[in-house]
Amino acid sequence: MKKVLVTGATSGIGYELTKALCAKGHRVVATGRNENQLAKLQQQTGCHTIAADLGNADETLEMFHMAHQALDGLDVLINNAGMNSRKCPIDEFTLEEFDAQYAVNLRAPALLSREALKVMKPNKSGHIINIVSTVAKRANETMSVYTAMKQGFAGFSAILMKEAQPHGIKVSSLFPGGTDTNFREAERPEYMHPASVAQTIALLLELPDDVVMHEMTFRPPVELE
Ligand SMILES: NC(=O)c1ccc[n+]([C@@H]2O[C@H](COP(=O)([O-])OP(=O)(O)OC[C@H]3O[C@@H](n4cnc5c(N)ncnc54)[C@H](OP(=O)(O)O)[C@@H]3O)[C@@H](O)[C@H]2O)c1
Repeated sequence: MKKVLVTGATSGIGYELTKALCAKGHRVVATGRNENQLAKLQQQTGCHTIAADLGNADETLEMFHMAHQALDGLDVLINNAGMNSRKCPIDEFTLEEFDAQYAVNLRAPALLSREALKVMKPNKSGHIINIVSTVAKRANETMSVYTAMKQGFAGFSAILMKEAQPHGIKVSSLFPGGTDTNFREAERPEYMHPASVAQTIALLLELPDDVVMHEMTFRPPVELE
């Protein structure tokens, strides 16, 4: 049994991941803004829930400390929450869109990783799993702001690995490809099902202690890159 904090648990990958981890007997704190979804998830899985807006740094930190207290420790942090306001060319994005993307896709997981390191270091164990995206390996027109944040997150996560691993803490950067969730405006049934992505992520908690998965890229069969 591991004590796990999952962000972005109210929808898509995070929702399915919380269900999968609870079914395997892990103790999970699930977080997101949508309180109805959190209540539904709590009812379905028995997980503990905390509503928080990761766009707000103070709320993010408060949520982390409440989760740490509720779990009485922390073995695994899964930075899964993420958003893309819309696709648009560079001469059209707004300051508000840029700041919101920065706060949720880059600042929040960086702050949560920092806090997790502080509590994991004394235990000389722990695992931080960062859900990046294959966009961090690409340069798609109309995806500039989202890609910039995800590439920043990938860089942060790679350095986090180097600073954390000497203290017995594993860091995994995951690069999923297209997944059929609310993240997208239209349904994409040819993409990975969020439950399949969750099942793949949950495997990381079962790796032997002497194996660290630094990076994992996985895609639906319709994607080649
Ligand atoms: N779908 C894809 O094709 C795909 C591909 C590669 C990577 N990813 C990444 O996978 C992760 C999960 O995405 P998904 O596809 O499962 O998307 P999703 O269904 O839209 O879920 C996004 C989650 O992030 C949370 N979130 C967004 N803004 C937030 C905020 N301000 N404060 C707190 N939580 C917030 C949402 O919760 P609330 O709305 O309740 O706050 C929701 O639980 C993201 O990091 C995404 O970038 C997705």
